[in-house]
Parts: sequence; structure tokens; C-alpha cells
Amino acid sequence: MGRFFFMARRLHFRPMDQHQALSRIQELTETLSEHNHRYYILDDPSISDSAYDSLLRELQDLETQFPALRAADSPTQKVGTEPISGFEPLTHTIPMLSLANAMNDQELIEFDARICKDLEVESIEYVIEPKLDGLGVELVYVDGVFTAGSTRGDGFTGENITQNLRTLKSLPLRLRGDKRSIPSYLEVRGEVFMGHRDFEQLNLRQLEAEKQAFANPRNAAAGSLRQLDSRITASRNLLINIYAAGQIEDFRVETHLEFIEALSDWGFPINDRFKLCPNIDSVLAFHHQLENDRESLSYDIDGSVTKVNNLGQQSQLGIRSRSPRWAIAGKFKARQEITKILSIEPSVGRTGAITPVANLEPVHLGGVMVARATLHNQDEIDRKDIRELDTVVVQRAGDVIPEVVKAILNKRPDDSKPYLIPDSCPACQGHVIRLEGEAKHYCHNISCPAQIKGRVEHFVAKRCMDIDGFGTKLVSQLVDTELVTSIADIYSLTVEQLAELERMAEKSAVNIVDAIESSKSADLWRLIHGLGIRNVGEHISKVFADKYGSISALREATLEDLESTFEVGPIVARGLVEFFKEDDNLELIEALSAHGLDPTKDISSRTEGKLSGLAFVFTGKLEYLNRDSARELVESLGGSSSGSISKKTDYLVAGPGAGSKLDKATKLGVKVLTEDEFRTMAGAD
Ligand code: IVH
Repeated sequence: MGRFFFMARRLHFRPMDQHQALSRIQELTETLSEHNHRYYILDDPSISDSAYDSLLRELQDLETQFPALRAADSPTQKVGTEPISGFEPLTHTIPMLSLANAMNDQELIEFDARICKDLEVESIEYVIEPKLDGLGVELVYVDGVFTAGSTRGDGFTGENITQNLRTLKSLPLRLRGDKRSIPSYLEVRGEVFMGHRDFEQLNLRQLEAEKQAFANPRNAAAGSLRQLDSRITASRNLLINIYAAGQIEDFRVETHLEFIEALSDWGFPINDRFKLCPNIDSVLAFHHQLENDRESLSYDIDGSVTKVNNLGQQSQLGIRSRSPRWAIAGKFKARQEITKILSIEPSVGRTGAITPVANLEPVHLGGVMVARATLHNQDEIDRKDIRELDTVVVQRAGDVIPEVVKAILNKRPDDSKPYLIPDSCPACQGHVIRLEGEAKHYCHNISCPAQIKGRVEHFVAKRCMDIDGFGTKLVSQLVDTELVTSIADIYSLTVEQLAELERMAEKSAVNIVDAIESSKSADLWRLIHGLGIRNVGEHISKVFADKYGSISALREATLEDLESTFEVGPIVARGLVEFFKEDDNLELIEALSAHGLDPTKDISSRTEGKLSGLAFVFTGKLEYLNRDSARELVESLGGSSSGSISKKTDYLVAGPGAGSKLDKATKLGVKVLTEDEFRTMAGAD
């Protein structure tokens, strides 16, 4: 690793010429591609994340200095590029077909019988694979380099989503192996999908940003792949598995199995849960095994796909209208059942969100026993009119948590009443409030025992009070032993108490107490963010710290004053007012202040300048300034800048390629400036 740092430093002090840069770029590309392969395909990394990052940064720097040397297969492409205005159509050389379905064992047996008859054989060798529940895509490689990728579209023409596909971590930008073994032209097909964990985390982030949650991982994958800004796709952790061929030149294999092996040798991610079966009985057995394993997978599958293994036999069978005769999708048993709701219980999550949960008469659903199902929120309960003691249809949909689909009305008891989420928290009796525009009810008491672990973790996190050594495990130990029952308790912890915890060395205890102590001088925005007020993230915390200068001034701000703040909408403002209404929250702030935590920010010295009081948004491509320097310039002249347009925006600075923001600005009557006009205004010429 030392060598890489040396190269980076040398680059800094003695600039490389184009020739040296090219050779270093090639070397870095090769090294980084190898590490990508080890990490994402083999699951066997051989360097640390930070060592990887520093190599990637070195490559990025070199490509910035020598833009002409940036290659199509550069690993830097994985982070995404500037947004585009729309997707171009891309026609598939060979249409992307769909699959016929077999709804049960009998239909799989009939599929086999038909094939045996057509080919006049006794039995057929098959490969059976999971049917991944995502989006079908096609990738094109010319001389081993990824050059284009598209969605399935209508099967004949899809959308060109090359930039977005490039950002998929496991998608090889260049194929591996000996040049002679790589086809000069290769089209492959596969599925883009999202794992359960990433799906859940994405939905949490969506809700935090006041955006609609995705209904299931499939929709989340589709939404992430069809982004005009590939940097968003890059941030979504999409997975891809390759399972079929399109047009291929200069390459021949005899069987689907050999093709899968070739895909794997070239560095493609393939799904390793496939099985070669000598006959249909063996296919049926594996189909059931997949169905049983389905619940334990970390991603959704919605059936199996059975393919005739021999490619010669495949072409003999040919296609029928829109699907091949040599393959079939085996569907899994329905995951819907009928049962009864015994009671509805409001459950408090780690963020204070109240989710109504139905306690069910236990029922078998797709291989597991289900006793609870989510009812999501009050609107969903009202829309479906679901009540306690109803007989209901429950299902495990694409997602992991079972849900109640509908009530069977003719089985409803006569005295049944609509269900309402109670107005006090089941865990702490604090106020339960639903803010206008929000789907969920929330308990706004941050010392609520149901939330305390999540709240403490958030408070000590890097982007909040940044207390070193305070991990999830320690938080759990402290809450479980009741040493911490409220955030303020953190500041009463002693070295002795910490040292008594399991697996805690005296030295670590001292370090943690030191870190707690030094957090007392953290900036005001960190404390605001740490309080975990609904919808108040890092950026808005900074905005409030700059405007109000102390927690007490923030607490006294009126709803109108909060709302008049640039970038602050009515939902954020209401959440803040509700937060300061809760007695427990006020007590916490007092207690923190008694521990010496009452940071202030000097707001009298706020920069005054040419742009004082003016709010800017930048969009499109800027020629002279990059986004960050444009924002810095605005702030240095007393103005403010934000990423989104609202009525409070004074100017939109729009460069070429400006899209939806320009439309919105026009609708809202926000003044639009060119980059030149902005530079004149800021006196930056
Ligand atoms: S083979 C001619 N294999 O299912 C069919 N498809 O309903 C070529 N799918 O559009 C596709 N997992 O998006 C194949 N292991 C798998 C698959 C799979 C999911 C999707 C694919 C296709 C759809 C067909």
C-alpha cells in the first residue's frame, strides 16, 4: 500500500506526462477491477475498503487531469455521472421473450411430456434455476468491454440505461480471461434486483426524505434503475445475475450449463442455486426445495425457471409466439391464506413511528407460520376497512413482512367498530400525533423506552454528537442494564460503570468517558441533529443552528418564523413545534444543559454581502463553476443555496441540460439566471 501512496504523492509534486499517466491508469484499472471481482463476485476481498478507496481516488484524480484517458471500462464509472434528460430507445438484436407458466407440478410434468414427444426421446436433461423477481436487462460487450445495456421494454425495444448499469457493483465493465476465449461480440441477459436489507434501508431513507416508500424490492429496483441521474442508481446497491444469451459471435458451447460456466469465467455474477437435472422428477424435487428455501433467501424469487440443457435441442424446439418452447417458469404456491384478527396492537418503532399490527390466529403461509401481520398505517386501515375480530385474507407479498389484504365482510361480527390508532403511546403514554402530510402516527417523546436504543445510537452517531467508541453493542448493553434510560444519562456514565460491562477493558472505558466529555463542546447543529426531531436531518440542523444560534432560541421560535426559514417546509416546522411541546423532551434539554451541554452559535457575525437574504438553486451543467464552488460563493456573499426549488427560492441558476427543476421554477415563477448572469450578479467575472 505504501507504494500507492508514494505514487499519489509523486503525482502531486512532480506532474506526470500523458504517457506515464496512461500506464498508471491502466495499472490502476486492472488492480481495481481485480479487487471488484474479488469483493463482489468471489466474496473474498484482499484489501481494506480504505486502501481500495485511495486507489480509486488516485485514478479519479488522474482522469480529471487527463480526461482523454478515461476509458469506457474505468472503475470510476461505477459512481455515476451527470444526469441525462431522458432514455434513448435501444432495439434488441434478438427479441427478449417471456416465459410460459406452470402453476403446479402437473403442468411441469405436461411440459416435459410435450418436449419428450416433440423430440421423440424418453427423457430430457434440464437445468433449473431460481426465477429472480426483478427486471430483465440486456448487456452488450464488444471485444470484452461493456458498451451498452437496456431494459426489456416491450421485448423488441427497450431503453438505453447504459450509464445506470455501469454503476452496478458486480457488473463487469471488462470481461476476464484470455482474449481468445472472449467473444468479439456478446449479448447477455439477466435480472437486476434488490436484496431485502437494502430494500428496507432504502425505504427508511425515502420516508426520512418525505418520499413515497417502495411497495416491494422489485419496484425499488425498477425505480432505482430508471433514474436519469446515475449517481442515484449508484447509491442503491442493485444486484444483477446473468442467466441467458442474446446474439453472440465467435463462441460456441453445447449446453446451457457450459454457458453458465463461461459466464462465470468471464466474471459475470451468476446465481449459484442452479441444478442440472437428468429428468423431470429431479426438476420437481429441486423446484420444491427452492420453494422451501425461498424464505431464507436475502432476495425475492417468484418461482423457478426450467430450461432444456442441450442447446441443439433448444433450437429444435424453437419458440411459440412470445415464449420459448424449451423453458418454463414454475410458480410457487400462493402465499395468501384466510385467518382471523384476534386484536390490533399499535407497535412503536425505534424512530417513534407507530405501526398498527394485527395479531392473527396463526396460519401457514408459504412455508412459515404467521401470527402477526402489518396494517401499515391508519390510512391503510381506513381504505381497507379492517377491524378487530375480522376474518381476513393475509399474504406474504414481494416483501418479507406479511400483510392483511382485505376483510371478508360477511364474516364480520355485528358489533364491530372501526379501528383508530390511540392518541397515547403504548410504551410511554406520550402524545401520539400524526402530522399533516405524513402517513404514520409518531410518538414524539424521545425518552420513550421503545425508542431509546435507536435514539441513543442516533445521538452518539458520527453525523451527530460523534462520540467515539459508542457502538450498537454498547448502546444495547447500557439500555439493557438500565444505566441509560434517557439520552441525558450518557453524561452521568462513569469509568467504573462502563468497566463493569461485559467485555469492556478499563482503557476503553476511560476513552469512552473522555469522548463523552469532549462531545460537550460539539457544534450546535450536532446537538440539534442528535435530538432526532422528526424530519430534521443534518442539513436542516445546520440551517437552524445558523438562524437561531441556540436550542432555547429554537425552542421559542413560532411556527410562522420556522416556516419562513429557507428550505424549511410546514412538515418540518410542525414536527419541531410538536417536539418542544412534549414535557419529557423539555426535561431532557434541561438535563443536558445541566451537564454543560448548551452550545451556542454566534449569529451576529453572519456573513453580510451582495447576496444577503437571497436563496439560490443550481441545476444543469455549469461551465465555469462546479456545484460546490458555486454554493460556497453564494454563502460567502451572505446568500444560501439548496438542492430543491420551492416558493422561497429567489433564483434558479440553470445551465445546459436543466430539466425538471427548470420546469418547476417556471411554474412557481422563480427567476431563472444563466451562469453568466449569476457570475455578474456575484461579481465573480
Ligand atoms: S430465462 C426466454 N432465467 O423472467 C426467456 N428468465 O417471464 C429467457 N427471469 O423476462 C429468460 N429469472 O426477466 C430466465 N433464471 C431466469 C430468470 C428469468 C427471472 C425473468 C426474466 C424474463 C422473465 C420471463
